[in-house]
Amino acid sequence: MAGRVEGKVAFITGAARGQGRSHALRLAEEGADIIAIDIDQQVEHVPYATATADDLRETVRQVEALDRRIVAEVCDVRDLEELKSAVSKGVAEFGRLDIVAGNAGVDIVGPWHDMTPEIVRTTIDINLIGVWNTVMAALPHMIDAGNGGSIILTSSANGIKAGPWNVAYNMSKFGVTGMAKSFAQELAKDRIRVNSVHPGGVDTPMANGILGVPESGFTKGQEENPDLFGMLTQWIPGMMPPREISNAVLFLASDEASWVTGHALAVDGGMTQY
Ligand SMILES: NC(=O)c1ccc[n+]([C@@H]2O[C@H](COP(=O)([O-])OP(=O)(O)OC[C@H]3O[C@@H](n4cnc5c(N)ncnc54)[C@H](O)[C@@H]3O)[C@@H](O)[C@H]2O)c1
Repeated sequence: MAGRVEGKVAFITGAARGQGRSHALRLAEEGADIIAIDIDQQVEHVPYATATADDLRETVRQVEALDRRIVAEVCDVRDLEELKSAVSKGVAEFGRLDIVAGNAGVDIVGPWHDMTPEIVRTTIDINLIGVWNTVMAALPHMIDAGNGGSIILTSSANGIKAGPWNVAYNMSKFGVTGMAKSFAQELAKDRIRVNSVHPGGVDTPMANGILGVPESGFTKGQEENPDLFGMLTQWIPGMMPPREISNAVLFLASDEASWVTGHALAVDGGMTQY
Protein backbone atom coordinates (compact mmCIF):
# COMPACT_ATOMS: atom_id res chain seq x y z
CA MET A 1 0.00 0.00 0.00
CA ALA A 2 1.32 3.48 -0.89
CA GLY A 3 2.31 5.68 2.03
CA ARG A 4 0.31 8.79 2.84
CA VAL A 5 3.08 11.11 1.57
CA GLU A 6 4.69 8.65 -0.87
CA GLY A 7 7.13 10.25 -3.32
CA LYS A 8 7.03 13.64 -1.60
CA VAL A 9 9.96 15.57 -0.15
CA ALA A 10 9.78 17.27 3.27
CA PHE A 11 12.05 20.03 4.61
CA ILE A 12 12.18 20.00 8.43
CA THR A 13 13.95 22.45 10.75
CA GLY A 14 15.08 21.46 14.25
CA ALA A 15 15.22 17.87 12.98
CA ALA A 16 18.13 16.61 15.12
CA ARG A 17 15.90 15.47 17.99
CA GLY A 18 12.56 15.93 19.74
CA GLN A 19 9.53 16.70 17.61
CA GLY A 20 11.62 17.52 14.52
CA ARG A 21 13.24 14.07 14.46
CA SER A 22 9.87 12.48 15.11
CA HIS A 23 8.35 14.40 12.15
CA ALA A 24 11.21 13.21 9.92
CA LEU A 25 10.63 9.58 10.92
CA ARG A 26 6.83 9.71 10.69
CA LEU A 27 6.91 11.32 7.22
CA ALA A 28 9.63 8.89 6.10
CA GLU A 29 7.53 5.95 7.32
CA GLU A 30 4.81 7.18 4.99
CA GLY A 31 7.11 7.44 1.97
CA ALA A 32 8.72 10.93 2.05
CA ASP A 33 12.38 11.80 1.56
CA ILE A 34 13.73 14.33 4.03
CA ILE A 35 15.77 17.54 4.02
CA ALA A 36 16.77 18.09 7.66
CA ILE A 37 18.56 20.96 9.37
CA ASP A 38 19.54 21.78 12.93
CA ILE A 39 22.14 23.79 14.80
CA ASP A 40 25.44 22.45 16.26
CA GLN A 41 26.15 24.99 18.98
CA GLN A 42 24.58 26.04 22.24
CA VAL A 43 22.04 28.79 21.59
CA GLU A 44 22.79 31.71 23.90
CA HIS A 45 20.54 32.29 26.97
CA VAL A 46 18.74 28.94 26.52
CA PRO A 47 18.67 27.14 29.92
CA TYR A 48 18.86 23.60 28.46
CA ALA A 49 21.24 22.10 25.87
CA THR A 50 20.33 22.65 22.21
CA ALA A 51 21.12 19.98 19.60
CA THR A 52 24.48 18.76 18.30
CA ALA A 53 25.70 17.40 14.96
CA ASP A 54 25.70 13.95 16.61
CA ASP A 55 21.97 14.27 17.23
CA LEU A 56 21.44 15.18 13.57
CA ARG A 57 23.55 12.18 12.48
CA GLU A 58 21.27 9.96 14.57
CA THR A 59 18.23 11.33 12.72
CA VAL A 60 19.99 10.50 9.43
CA ARG A 61 20.66 6.96 10.65
CA GLN A 62 17.05 6.42 11.71
CA VAL A 63 15.56 7.81 8.47
CA GLU A 64 17.93 5.67 6.38
CA ALA A 65 16.95 2.63 8.45
CA LEU A 66 13.43 3.20 7.10
CA ASP A 67 14.87 2.98 3.59
CA ARG A 68 14.24 6.63 2.81
CA ARG A 69 16.74 9.21 1.64
CA ILE A 70 17.83 12.23 3.70
CA VAL A 71 19.98 15.33 3.12
CA ALA A 72 21.03 16.79 6.48
CA GLU A 73 22.87 20.08 7.03
CA VAL A 74 24.02 21.95 10.13
CA CYS A 75 22.43 25.34 9.80
CA ASP A 76 20.97 28.15 11.92
CA VAL A 77 17.41 29.22 11.09
CA ARG A 78 18.49 32.81 11.80
CA ASP A 79 20.62 32.70 8.64
CA LEU A 80 18.43 32.90 5.53
CA GLU A 81 21.34 32.32 3.12
CA GLU A 82 22.39 29.11 4.95
CA LEU A 83 18.81 27.88 4.84
CA LYS A 84 18.50 28.64 1.13
CA SER A 85 21.65 26.70 0.41
CA ALA A 86 20.51 23.68 2.49
CA VAL A 87 17.13 23.59 0.74
CA SER A 88 18.75 23.98 -2.70
CA LYS A 89 21.08 21.08 -1.94
CA GLY A 90 18.15 18.87 -0.97
CA VAL A 91 16.04 19.85 -3.97
CA ALA A 92 19.02 19.22 -6.29
CA GLU A 93 19.29 15.72 -4.81
CA PHE A 94 15.59 14.79 -4.71
CA GLY A 95 14.18 16.92 -7.55
CA ARG A 96 11.24 18.44 -5.69
CA LEU A 97 9.88 19.95 -2.47
CA ASP A 98 6.33 19.37 -1.22
CA ILE A 99 6.23 19.71 2.57
CA VAL A 100 7.80 22.19 4.98
CA ALA A 101 7.80 21.76 8.76
CA GLY A 102 9.04 24.96 10.44
CA ASN A 103 9.66 23.34 13.81
CA ALA A 104 12.95 24.72 15.27
CA GLY A 105 12.46 26.79 18.38
CA VAL A 106 13.70 27.72 21.85
CA ASP A 107 11.95 28.58 25.10
CA ILE A 108 13.66 30.89 27.60
CA VAL A 109 11.31 31.03 30.57
CA GLY A 110 11.14 33.33 33.58
CA PRO A 111 9.22 36.19 35.15
CA TRP A 112 8.92 39.40 33.12
CA HIS A 113 11.65 41.28 35.04
CA ASP A 114 14.24 38.60 34.20
CA MET A 115 13.68 39.04 30.47
CA THR A 116 16.48 41.08 28.85
CA PRO A 117 16.50 42.67 25.39
CA GLU A 118 18.96 39.93 24.37
CA ILE A 119 16.61 37.13 25.49
CA VAL A 120 13.66 38.69 23.69
CA ARG A 121 15.72 39.19 20.50
CA THR A 122 17.10 35.64 20.51
CA THR A 123 13.59 34.23 20.95
CA ILE A 124 12.03 36.36 18.22
CA ASP A 125 14.98 35.79 15.86
CA ILE A 126 14.69 31.99 16.12
CA ASN A 127 11.00 31.30 16.80
CA LEU A 128 9.49 33.96 14.55
CA ILE A 129 11.97 35.30 12.00
CA GLY A 130 13.60 31.85 11.79
CA VAL A 131 10.23 30.37 10.81
CA TRP A 132 9.71 33.15 8.26
CA ASN A 133 13.22 32.42 6.89
CA THR A 134 12.27 28.74 6.61
CA VAL A 135 9.22 29.54 4.51
CA MET A 136 11.12 32.04 2.36
CA ALA A 137 13.92 29.53 1.65
CA ALA A 138 11.41 26.90 0.56
CA LEU A 139 8.79 28.84 -1.39
CA PRO A 140 10.68 29.58 -4.64
CA HIS A 141 11.18 25.84 -5.18
CA MET A 142 7.52 25.04 -4.47
CA ILE A 143 6.13 27.85 -6.64
CA ASP A 144 8.47 27.02 -9.56
CA ALA A 145 7.51 23.33 -9.46
CA GLY A 146 3.80 24.18 -9.55
CA ASN A 147 2.86 21.05 -7.55
CA GLY A 148 1.22 22.94 -4.68
CA GLY A 149 2.31 21.72 -1.25
CA SER A 150 1.82 21.94 2.50
CA ILE A 151 3.61 24.15 5.01
CA ILE A 152 3.19 23.39 8.71
CA LEU A 153 4.47 25.93 11.22
CA THR A 154 5.00 24.90 14.83
CA SER A 155 3.52 27.40 17.21
CA SER A 156 2.40 26.22 20.67
CA ALA A 157 -0.54 26.18 23.03
CA ASN A 158 1.18 29.46 23.96
CA GLY A 159 0.30 30.76 20.48
CA ILE A 160 -3.43 30.46 21.33
CA LYS A 161 -3.44 31.29 25.04
CA ALA A 162 -0.58 33.05 26.84
CA GLY A 163 1.25 30.83 29.31
CA PRO A 164 2.68 32.47 32.43
CA TRP A 165 6.36 33.45 32.82
CA ASN A 166 6.98 33.20 29.11
CA VAL A 167 6.53 36.66 27.61
CA ALA A 168 9.14 36.37 24.82
CA TYR A 169 7.98 32.89 23.83
CA ASN A 170 4.30 33.96 23.84
CA MET A 171 5.17 36.94 21.61
CA SER A 172 6.95 34.66 19.16
CA LYS A 173 4.34 31.89 19.10
CA PHE A 174 1.34 34.24 18.64
CA GLY A 175 3.38 35.69 15.75
CA VAL A 176 3.71 32.25 14.16
CA THR A 177 -0.08 31.79 14.33
CA GLY A 178 -0.57 35.06 12.41
CA MET A 179 2.22 34.26 9.96
CA ALA A 180 0.60 30.95 9.00
CA LYS A 181 -2.72 32.66 8.27
CA SER A 182 -1.05 35.39 6.16
CA PHE A 183 0.91 32.93 4.04
CA ALA A 184 -2.19 30.71 3.76
CA GLN A 185 -4.20 33.54 2.23
CA GLU A 186 -1.57 34.57 -0.31
CA LEU A 187 -0.48 31.08 -1.32
CA ALA A 188 -3.90 29.46 -1.72
CA LYS A 189 -3.96 30.38 -5.41
CA ASP A 190 -0.77 28.32 -5.83
CA ARG A 191 -2.42 25.37 -4.03
CA ILE A 192 0.11 25.70 -1.21
CA ARG A 193 -1.64 25.18 2.13
CA VAL A 194 -0.27 26.71 5.32
CA ASN A 195 -1.37 25.69 8.81
CA SER A 196 0.00 26.01 12.34
CA VAL A 197 0.19 23.26 14.96
CA HIS A 198 -0.09 24.05 18.65
CA PRO A 199 1.42 21.38 20.92
CA GLY A 200 0.70 21.10 24.62
CA GLY A 201 3.33 19.46 26.84
CA VAL A 202 5.52 17.21 24.69
CA ASP A 203 8.17 14.89 26.10
CA THR A 204 11.31 16.45 24.54
CA PRO A 205 14.58 17.97 25.82
CA MET A 206 12.95 21.42 25.70
CA ALA A 207 10.03 20.61 27.98
CA ASN A 208 12.14 18.42 30.24
CA GLY A 209 14.68 21.24 30.54
CA ILE A 210 12.17 23.80 31.82
CA LEU A 211 9.25 22.01 33.52
CA GLY A 212 9.60 20.71 37.06
CA VAL A 213 13.28 21.77 37.16
CA PRO A 214 13.99 23.39 40.57
CA GLU A 215 16.23 26.16 39.19
CA SER A 216 14.11 26.97 36.12
CA GLY A 217 12.43 30.32 35.42
CA PHE A 218 9.06 28.59 35.80
CA THR A 219 9.83 27.61 39.38
CA LYS A 220 10.82 31.19 40.15
CA GLY A 221 7.67 32.52 38.46
CA GLN A 222 5.48 30.13 40.45
CA GLU A 223 7.07 31.21 43.73
CA GLU A 224 6.54 34.89 42.94
CA ASN A 225 3.06 34.65 41.47
CA PRO A 226 1.38 31.36 42.45
CA ASP A 227 -2.10 32.48 41.27
CA LEU A 228 -0.98 31.97 37.68
CA PHE A 229 0.04 28.36 38.23
CA GLY A 230 -2.33 26.16 36.24
CA MET A 231 -3.17 28.82 33.60
CA LEU A 232 -2.22 26.25 30.95
CA THR A 233 -3.44 22.94 32.34
CA GLN A 234 -4.01 19.95 30.09
CA TRP A 235 -7.27 18.07 30.52
CA ILE A 236 -5.57 14.85 29.49
CA PRO A 237 -2.83 14.37 32.10
CA GLY A 238 0.81 13.60 31.34
CA MET A 239 3.35 14.50 28.69
CA MET A 240 2.62 13.67 25.06
CA PRO A 241 5.07 11.59 23.03
CA PRO A 242 6.38 13.65 20.06
CA ARG A 243 4.71 11.20 17.67
CA GLU A 244 1.29 12.65 18.62
CA ILE A 245 2.35 15.97 17.08
CA SER A 246 3.93 14.16 14.11
CA ASN A 247 0.61 12.47 13.38
CA ALA A 248 -1.03 15.91 13.10
CA VAL A 249 1.83 17.12 10.90
CA LEU A 250 1.44 14.03 8.71
CA PHE A 251 -2.30 14.66 8.30
CA LEU A 252 -1.73 18.32 7.34
CA ALA A 253 1.08 17.29 4.96
CA SER A 254 -1.01 14.64 3.24
CA ASP A 255 -3.63 14.95 0.52
CA GLU A 256 -6.22 14.03 3.18
CA ALA A 257 -6.02 17.70 4.21
CA SER A 258 -6.32 19.16 0.69
CA TRP A 259 -8.90 21.73 1.78
CA VAL A 260 -7.41 22.54 5.19
CA THR A 261 -5.53 25.83 5.18
CA GLY A 262 -5.10 28.81 7.52
CA HIS A 263 -6.06 26.54 10.41
CA ALA A 264 -4.54 26.59 13.90
CA LEU A 265 -4.60 22.94 15.00
CA ALA A 266 -4.25 22.41 18.75
CA VAL A 267 -2.82 19.04 19.82
CA ASP A 268 -2.77 19.89 23.48
CA GLY A 269 -5.03 17.57 25.48
CA GLY A 270 -7.58 20.37 25.79
CA MET A 271 -5.17 22.91 27.31
CA THR A 272 -6.37 25.88 25.24
CA GLN A 273 -10.01 24.86 24.81
CA TYR A 274 -13.02 26.28 26.65
N1 LIG B 1 8.02 20.39 24.07
C1 LIG B 1 6.92 21.07 24.27
O1 LIG B 1 6.23 20.88 25.31
C2 LIG B 1 6.46 22.08 23.26
C3 LIG B 1 5.17 22.64 23.42
C4 LIG B 1 4.70 23.54 22.48
C5 LIG B 1 5.49 23.88 21.40
N2 LIG B 1 6.74 23.37 21.27
C6 LIG B 1 7.52 23.75 20.08
O2 LIG B 1 7.84 22.59 19.34
C7 LIG B 1 9.03 22.82 18.56
C8 LIG B 1 9.99 21.66 18.73
O3 LIG B 1 10.47 21.66 20.06
P1 LIG B 1 10.81 20.32 20.88
O4 LIG B 1 9.78 20.18 21.92
O5 LIG B 1 11.05 19.21 19.92
O6 LIG B 1 12.17 20.76 21.62
P2 LIG B 1 13.72 20.47 21.25
O7 LIG B 1 14.49 21.48 22.00
O8 LIG B 1 14.03 19.05 21.44
O9 LIG B 1 13.76 20.74 19.67
C9 LIG B 1 13.94 22.02 19.11
C10 LIG B 1 15.05 21.91 18.08
O10 LIG B 1 15.25 23.22 17.49
C11 LIG B 1 16.66 23.36 17.34
N3 LIG B 1 17.03 24.78 17.23
C12 LIG B 1 17.00 25.72 18.21
N4 LIG B 1 17.49 26.88 17.75
C13 LIG B 1 17.84 26.67 16.45
C14 LIG B 1 18.40 27.48 15.45
N5 LIG B 1 18.73 28.76 15.69
N6 LIG B 1 18.61 26.95 14.23
C15 LIG B 1 18.30 25.65 13.97
N7 LIG B 1 17.78 24.83 14.89
C16 LIG B 1 17.54 25.34 16.13
C17 LIG B 1 17.22 22.72 18.59
O11 LIG B 1 18.62 22.47 18.44
C18 LIG B 1 16.37 21.48 18.72
O12 LIG B 1 16.92 20.38 18.03
C19 LIG B 1 9.57 24.18 19.03
O13 LIG B 1 9.19 25.19 18.12
C20 LIG B 1 8.85 24.39 20.35
O14 LIG B 1 8.74 25.76 20.68
C21 LIG B 1 7.24 22.47 22.18
